[in-house]
Amino acid sequence: MAGNESGKAQVILDLDTGIDDAMAIAYVLGSPDAELVGITCTYGNVEVGRSVRNSLALTELLGHPEVPVYRGLGHALASDGFEVLPSTLRIHGVNGMGEVEVPEPMREADPTPAADLIVRAAHELGPRLVYVPTGPLTNLAAALRRDPEVARLIGRVALMGGALTQPGNVSACAEANVSQDPEAADEVFRSGMRVTMVGLDVTHQTLLTREETARWRALGTAAGRAYADMIDYYIGAYAESAPQLGGCALHDPLAAAVALDPSLVRTLPVNLKVDLAGPTRGRTIGDETRLNDPEKTCAVALGVDSERFLGHFMERMGRALGAGE
Ligand code: RIB
Ligand code: CA
Repeated sequence: MAGNESGKAQVILDLDTGIDDAMAIAYVLGSPDAELVGITCTYGNVEVGRSVRNSLALTELLGHPEVPVYRGLGHALASDGFEVLPSTLRIHGVNGMGEVEVPEPMREADPTPAADLIVRAAHELGPRLVYVPTGPLTNLAAALRRDPEVARLIGRVALMGGALTQPGNVSACAEANVSQDPEAADEVFRSGMRVTMVGLDVTHQTLLTREETARWRALGTAAGRAYADMIDYYIGAYAESAPQLGGCALHDPLAAAVALDPSLVRTLPVNLKVDLAGPTRGRTIGDETRLNDPEKTCAVALGVDSERFLGHFMERMGRALGAGE
């Protein structure tokens, strides 16, 4: 697979391409220290076909039709179907982009299934591969089932999902991405793979307001206008569902930022598991059976330098959104 010797991080985003996933795409494309080598698609904010379509359309809008997009699995490992939650429709809109119209993509998805691509990339790129899942962990768990070696081959994984010290956002204790496929998340946490969990503990501390989106609209580009409209829709949904925050949470771009610069967060080493039964299903919590293991495989982000992140974010988003017409 494509990969260069420039010293740039070789990034694969795994997205359920809704509005904050769209920001993660622009963030990585606007990052001089990263090369976006592919997008694997999953379900969650939208169904997987729509996630593929949105990822193709957004990379073209941002002037990067060279980025390959791969279709992943369409539902959780332990289920046989998927439907977008009504609360998700209110946050991301029916099309996953706040009903903003982005031109139909000119190209199609690569025929390689997402899990196969992840296995191939882990072997070919190894420590240079930075993998950022910002939806359910179904594709990564499927890749691990195919080849458990993936756990030690991938260079760095920073995932958006879970909550350790904060309540959940779909139930009292479950965050949306983990709750979509708790079995997959549990398999990932127990696989031995080293991951940084960028969950609600920190993403609810990084917020965007209409003041910033107005700057994107003022760029005068199609991408600047589309992103400003999309994120204004998202800010409107947050104003109704979480008015105490005073803006929208930058969940997925924060995970991408931490993948590129881990020093943006303070972390706690924990061996995590996911509750799979009962009223706490979907909760991310320390695994009591591995409490005394000297080695911890998960670094849970509990503190974030929000100001420094927002500076990076606006600079990189400005570069990506200002590039087009
Ligand atoms: O809980 C927030 C997460 O759920 C984000 O990744 C958002 O895009 C949705 O997938
Ligand atoms: Ca997401």
